[in-house]
Amino acid sequence: MKTANYTLENANEFIRQKEKDVITTYSPGYHLTAPVGWINDPNGFVYYEGEYHLFYQYYPYKTVWGPMHWGHAKSKDLVTWENLPVALSPDQYYDEGGCFSGSAIEKDGKLYLMYTGHLPQSDEEQSRQIQCMAVSEDGIHFEKINQNPVLDEKDLPDNARVQDFRDPKVFERNGVYYSIIASQTKELTGQILLYQSTDLIEWEFKSILLEGTKDQGIMWECPDLFELDGKDVLITSPIQIPKSGNEFHNVSSCVAFIGKVDWEKGTFEVESMEEIDHGLDFYAPQTTIDEQGRRVMVAWMQMWGRNMPTHTENHGWVGAMTLPRELRIKDGKLIQLPISEIANYYQKSAEIKEVVLVDETKEFEGVAGKVGVLELIVDLKEATRFRIELRASATERTLLTYHTETNELEFDRFQSGIPISGEEAEPLNKRKVLCSLDEGKLKLKILLDNSSIETFVNDGKETITSTIYPLSDESEKIYLEATGKVRIDSLDMYDIDML
Ligand code: FRU
Repeated sequence: MKTANYTLENANEFIRQKEKDVITTYSPGYHLTAPVGWINDPNGFVYYEGEYHLFYQYYPYKTVWGPMHWGHAKSKDLVTWENLPVALSPDQYYDEGGCFSGSAIEKDGKLYLMYTGHLPQSDEEQSRQIQCMAVSEDGIHFEKINQNPVLDEKDLPDNARVQDFRDPKVFERNGVYYSIIASQTKELTGQILLYQSTDLIEWEFKSILLEGTKDQGIMWECPDLFELDGKDVLITSPIQIPKSGNEFHNVSSCVAFIGKVDWEKGTFEVESMEEIDHGLDFYAPQTTIDEQGRRVMVAWMQMWGRNMPTHTENHGWVGAMTLPRELRIKDGKLIQLPISEIANYYQKSAEIKEVVLVDETKEFEGVAGKVGVLELIVDLKEATRFRIELRASATERTLLTYHTETNELEFDRFQSGIPISGEEAEPLNKRKVLCSLDEGKLKLKILLDNSSIETFVNDGKETITSTIYPLSDESEKIYLEATGKVRIDSLDMYDIDML
């Protein structure tokens, strides 16, 4: 039985008519966004027939969250994306409230999507979430299978609530298909369930992979599980994990558990847990593995529960993805690096070596911009503070400050532009992360893209990802400020040339 309103045809026709009306002041130059409308989580990230495919939670009709479709784009190099027709719309009785997040896998040359059918009810207690499959022969046009739903409330363990059971991440291991699915327990904690299948159609419950504690949030969304550098990594996005030190300041956070899966028992033995990104706008990351064996992660570069300036200013779009990041594990810690292909788009605008700043603020020729990459290595052995003002003008600036007494790097968007408010306690504009210097040196790679700043610290040991919405067209200067003596070993600035 089909439901009438939200067809693929309607969605694609709407996009065709409205994409030209989008206001691009804040549109990213080299980050993926939708042609028009609202996006949230990355979905179905997969390397299929020589190209990367990325789907996303999508409501084309407005710039707010609504009945979820799956938008779709593909890329040869994770930087330049080609938009494809909408892949899924909520057009069946079992997904009429939305085709929620999920993942993709190839089998026998076909591309399968596993996603959550959301069935809302006016009485929330009656709502349901179930798992569904869709399949494609060409990687573009998808058919939902007749056997849907493939998992429903009958397949839940006793401790699970039927209302919150979503975001399947499917993968294959030793000839068996597995899916890990986020679930809320009746005690209102998060847990990840493990299911298995031999054909992607018939699924059975295997185990509770990992159950969260009361102080790890009320629900874990968007899980992912993979092997990396001899460890197993379980990623999830907990809602309302309590703040602790510099960690978990957003209303929802993203964590990586590093440890080992016991595949006999179907359980995850946790060795450590860390917050993935310390910025204000990073959520629901998903990974895939590519032909070169790289584990690549992409996340939604926004956060729930905030005002979204491109919505309130009627720009016709909301939400973008991070630049995909390559993941590694080093010394038991997750390392994130911007995918190397971005360097193919670099146009050098400045190169500076061995400059010393003593209690002064300096601007350098060629070091400025709204879209570009700034890479620098500074020696802070004799400094107390080093600050970079980004996207600066007489009225605005975004600050990145390293404090040598506390070894913290601080991001501050208080004076960046349009104020952002949200559900979290203040300060809603600042985030900090502890990052020790390496022999007194700080190494930064800063990706600027109109309304976003992604900072990679010390070869990817930490990252800070946030959006900003400067009001002045002139906000593109960059100043370096030293308190004490800062020696710039090297500074390279690149424009990004999308050809
Ligand atoms: C995470 C999330 C998922 C859900 C989707 C709905 O951001 O809440 O758990 O599937 O968004 O759009």
